[in-house]
Amino acid sequence: MAYSTFLLHIYGLALFFLGSHPVNGDVSYSFPEEMKRGSVIGNIAKDLGLDLGVLSARNARIDTEDNGVKYCSVNLNTGDLVVQERIDREGLCAKKASCVLKQELVLENPLELHRINIRVQDINDNSPQFKEDSLVIEIRESADKDARFLLGEAHDGDIGENAVQGYSLQQNEHFKLNVNTKAGGRKYCELVLDKELDREDKKEITMLLTAFDGGSPQRSGTVVIHVTVLDANDNAPVFSQTVFEATLPENCPIDILVITVSATDADDGLNSEITYAFDHVSDEDSNVFSLHPKTGEVRIAGAVDYEKVSSYEMQISAKDGLGLVSYATLIIEITDLNDNAPVIYLKSLSNPIPENVSPGTEVGIVNVQDKDSENNKQVHCSIQQNVPFKLVPSIKNYYSLVTTGQLDRELVSDYNITISATDEGSPPLSSSKTVQLSVADINDNPPVFEEQSYSAYVTENNKPGSTLCSVTARDPDWRQNGTVIYSLLPGEVNGAPVSSYVSVNGDTGVIHAVRSFDYEQLRNFKVQVMARDNGSPPLSSNVTVSVFISDVNDNSPQILYPALEGNSFMTELVPKAAHGGSLVSKVIAVDADSGQNAWLSYHIVTSTDPGLFSIDVHSGEIRTQRDISESDSMKQNLIVAVKDNGQPSLSATCSMYLIISDNLAEVTELKDISYDEKNSKLTSYLIIALVSVSTFFLTFIIIILGVRFCRRRKPRLLFDGAVAIPSAYLPPNYADVDGTGTLRSTYNYDAYLTTGSRTSDFKFVTSYNDNTLPADQTLRKSPSDFAEVFGDLEGCSEV
Ligand SMILES: *[C@@H]1O[C@H](CO)[C@@H](O)[C@H](O)[C@H]1NC(C)=O
Ligand SMILES: *[C@@H]1O[C@H](CO)[C@@H](O)[C@H](O)[C@H]1NC(C)=O
Ligand SMILES: *[C@@H]1O[C@H](CO)[C@@H](O)[C@H](O)[C@H]1NC(C)=O
Repeated sequence: MAYSTFLLHIYGLALFFLGSHPVNGDVSYSFPEEMKRGSVIGNIAKDLGLDLGVLSARNARIDTEDNGVKYCSVNLNTGDLVVQERIDREGLCAKKASCVLKQELVLENPLELHRINIRVQDINDNSPQFKEDSLVIEIRESADKDARFLLGEAHDGDIGENAVQGYSLQQNEHFKLNVNTKAGGRKYCELVLDKELDREDKKEITMLLTAFDGGSPQRSGTVVIHVTVLDANDNAPVFSQTVFEATLPENCPIDILVITVSATDADDGLNSEITYAFDHVSDEDSNVFSLHPKTGEVRIAGAVDYEKVSSYEMQISAKDGLGLVSYATLIIEITDLNDNAPVIYLKSLSNPIPENVSPGTEVGIVNVQDKDSENNKQVHCSIQQNVPFKLVPSIKNYYSLVTTGQLDRELVSDYNITISATDEGSPPLSSSKTVQLSVADINDNPPVFEEQSYSAYVTENNKPGSTLCSVTARDPDWRQNGTVIYSLLPGEVNGAPVSSYVSVNGDTGVIHAVRSFDYEQLRNFKVQVMARDNGSPPLSSNVTVSVFISDVNDNSPQILYPALEGNSFMTELVPKAAHGGSLVSKVIAVDADSGQNAWLSYHIVTSTDPGLFSIDVHSGEIRTQRDISESDSMKQNLIVAVKDNGQPSLSATCSMYLIISDNLAEVTELKDISYDEKNSKLTSYLIIALVSVSTFFLTFIIIILGVRFCRRRKPRLLFDGAVAIPSAYLPPNYADVDGTGTLRSTYNYDAYLTTGSRTSDFKFVTSYNDNTLPADQTLRKSPSDFAEVFGDLEGCSEV
């Protein structure tokens, strides 16, 4: 009360000096707000010095300027000024430091007006209050230590001490609080980052911020601070594996998924958006695989060939939105498929191969390659069965082609060797190659005559140069190794070189006669013909050609007895007592021909007494036909013809003198005369012949020596040249009975004697041999020879 009175005085004094208003005096009161209704602010009657009765008499009342709210009223009985309406300082004055409520006390009769100033005192009736219930703050995790974040301030309706005096922050590990005072004393606070944030560790932090005032009791208000830690790209993507491995068969179709790589990024949003890519990959590899940048799927983009690249190793990168990158390795192993057939290479080949190579000779080298691997690369090589070759495995897929047997060009001259190669893949692949091999000729076959021996038949007196026969030899060898050349082998026929008899055409094998053959000299002979090929060295074979000469009736019968020469005057004695049928004599004749041509028949052509003698047609035996009678002439003459059986037949005749007598002496003188005469004549002929032969022989020797001397400077003539050197013409071979070609004279003689006669009671005076042999001598007896000798004889001639 004292206080209010004091104030009243001061105001009254002030008003007094101002003195312009009809106011009688002001009173001031100081009064806390929010007092209950009826609470006494002060005794206004007393303070104004008014009587209590006056108040009610003068209708004292409280009024306001502008008809405002009447916060207080006057108790007329007591004079107390009491609270009428709630006085809220904050509502009336807000933050003003002094809050004065102006009321007026009105007294009527006379009107009296007193101002009442009620100074409203603040009480701590308001708590500090934040604007929002919660504060949401976003802080990037990358924020540095000591970074500040403004939190704003709390409001408190009260003023002074009752207003916000400070803040406190709930205990936490990241933040602390910094409280500042604004001009005007208002306090606000900042959040200070004390320890760096990690979004990946803690995404959100919730703290309670408390604001408190200085009233008593103290009041406070809180707000929840939600700190959201914003992501910073502080995490690189992390691959789920450091090495991704995949296995893939080759030849996979395009777009097949191989593997999916994945990486995660602990960051958020853009910072965790991963882009995959190949890193530092050669163009080739990246053409083969594609990597989806978002999904991480690795797919085939090109041809995958194990034989080209069997494994791929690539760096892949994962990059997040702001460019942090990490790497991993992608290994793709390609597995082999059996997609390559073996390939056969012929490394060398001896072609042609000589047919005489020994079994086991290497003729070629084969190499087989397969690009695949492991089993797909294991190759087996073979050749067909029916050839004399085999493959011998050698080092490292090399094979030798060797012969297994003897080759024979004449049987098989070409081989097509098919080499097959098969790998062990599944399914296996194979390939083949055909090698042509020729067999080269070796002169391993001699010419072979078509027949083991040849026979040629020719009739005598043939023309020189006529064809006898032809021989053929075959040689299966090749070209000159199989070219056959025929030739005569040197030899002798009857002492003369065989080339004087026949010649052979070297190319055709036709054998020609070089001379005319005489059956009576040579009935047959053999020549050796050689067939030789042209190889080096040459091979040859020999064949015998037998030439058989057949007879032509070119020889007249030759009468041996009665001989025309020497004994021509020999007569036969016929005893007078001879009976009919007794053998008187015999005509002996021979014919150089053979067979029919030498089959002789005997006929009496004329006779002195035709009825007395007869001759046996075949044996030539002359017999009496009847008994000799006295009337028969002593001299009997017979002319006998001997004919052969040839076509046409040739004949010879002779005379036979028969003397019918018993007395030998009658006959002898006649015979001797003629014999001596003839003998001396013959001797002189022999001398002449001997001299001429000797002369000829000497001349011949000289010629031979001369020819020899000349020949030394000339090459020898081939033995098979068709040069025939005529030799001495051989005498007739009279009786080649045993076929040996040599005359056995005694046999010959006897033969005719014994075969022709039934009795052998004859004695020939001279032998046939004396005159006709030796055979070498050219003593061909022509009819004229005989004619000269027996000039006076009649009727003996050859026809
Ligand atoms: C080998 O093959 C060739 C050509 O294909 C063919 O002309 C020839 O007759 C064949 N030879 C053999 C012996 O099969
Ligand atoms: C003939 O055979 C010989 C070996 O005896 C050989 O050297 C030659 O080449 C062959 N001639 C031909 C034409 O084949
Ligand atoms: C053929 O005869 C000649 C001469 O006698 C001889 O040298 C050669 O060896 C013979 N050839 C044969 C195959 O018998």
